[in-house]
Amino acid sequence: MAFDPNLIRGEFPILSRRIGDRPLVYLDSAASAQKPEAVIEAMTGLMRHSYANVHRGLHTLANETTELYEKARQKVADFIHGDPDEIVFTRGATEALNLVASGLGQQLTEGDEVLLTEMEHHANIVPWHFLRERKGVVLRFAPILPDGALDLAALEGMISARTRVVSIVHMSNVLGTVNPVQRIASLAHAAGAVMVVDACQSVVHSPLNVKELGADFVAFSGHKLYGPTGIGVLWGRADRLAALPPWQGGGEMIDQVDFDRITYAAPPLRFEAGTPPIVEAVGLGAAVDWISTQDRGAIEAHEKALYRQAAQALGRINGVRILGEAEGKGAVLSFVLEGAHAHDIAQLLDRYGVAVRAGTHCAEPLMRRLGVSSSVRASFALYNTAEEVDVFLDALDRTRTFFT
Ligand code: ALA
Repeated sequence: MAFDPNLIRGEFPILSRRIGDRPLVYLDSAASAQKPEAVIEAMTGLMRHSYANVHRGLHTLANETTELYEKARQKVADFIHGDPDEIVFTRGATEALNLVASGLGQQLTEGDEVLLTEMEHHANIVPWHFLRERKGVVLRFAPILPDGALDLAALEGMISARTRVVSIVHMSNVLGTVNPVQRIASLAHAAGAVMVVDACQSVVHSPLNVKELGADFVAFSGHKLYGPTGIGVLWGRADRLAALPPWQGGGEMIDQVDFDRITYAAPPLRFEAGTPPIVEAVGLGAAVDWISTQDRGAIEAHEKALYRQAAQALGRINGVRILGEAEGKGAVLSFVLEGAHAHDIAQLLDRYGVAVRAGTHCAEPLMRRLGVSSSVRASFALYNTAEEVDVFLDALDRTRTFFT
């Protein structure tokens, strides 16, 4: 059955906001999604009723909170078909990718290669640049095709015995391209490389099964998944996580500490030094609970229909170039309008209540590769409606008159 966003919009309090005298049309969910009441309630409820630090106390509140925190880990594990011991809570996807790069980096030496793609965003580029700068690791970037799809043949040709890590985005935040991660993981493993996947966008739009994906590490953030900021997830295959050295040092990541020696806790706690983002983890648990009650297949179809409605209309406008039209792409629409700066368009759209992202989308190398300095991006979420897409198109039409 078709998904009706009007049935769930009321659960997102912010969607009734107005921007000036216009209803909010929020088309920036790829940057950060809005939160349902269930998430807000879980977080405030925790702080009102049960809050204490986790894994440290023996009193009732400490026990209750620890139970809720670990229950959130179980929920996230179930959501992606992993094991709770394979779920590391981080402060975001960026921290998760830094953790992996830093850990794997300790096992790399000069001349070892890390294979990325041209469509990565900075969170999956910069941590690897650190290894290039500090250890002489060589970064290679698999190219994209004119429609924004990954050039799989070229990527295959770039994997060799020197490749130690392949780290790629599952769904591009700019192009919407969905990469054949399973196939790439087999190629990486055949060469003896570790496979890392940035699933920040993909986990929001389609069910993620880490076992089927065949990757070694998968990172994503909570705030794009209708959960809070300050929480992300690193899933790692148990043996791969166990082989990673500790990341940050502090309380709870140790087994025993003395003045002259130290032993470390097993994963996942080995990677959760200090007081973790407790309220945020519980909020993420509530978010995955909430999403799990929805028909995800119908949501994906709904989001893609919104994308098509917008892309078809934009395709008829002279001077508009859509960035990324690969088959099977997800619901993000990036575009440039000849003669207009993306920031100006975004600011003008805001006057009509329409929130879009404009700029380089934390993917500067990709923008350079596409030959543009910036773009406008409208991203579609489950709560968006066809009427909102019409408002966006109408606002864009009015905006265009400023540039002609
Ligand atoms: N990576 C996020 C985005 O695409 C912030 O907007």
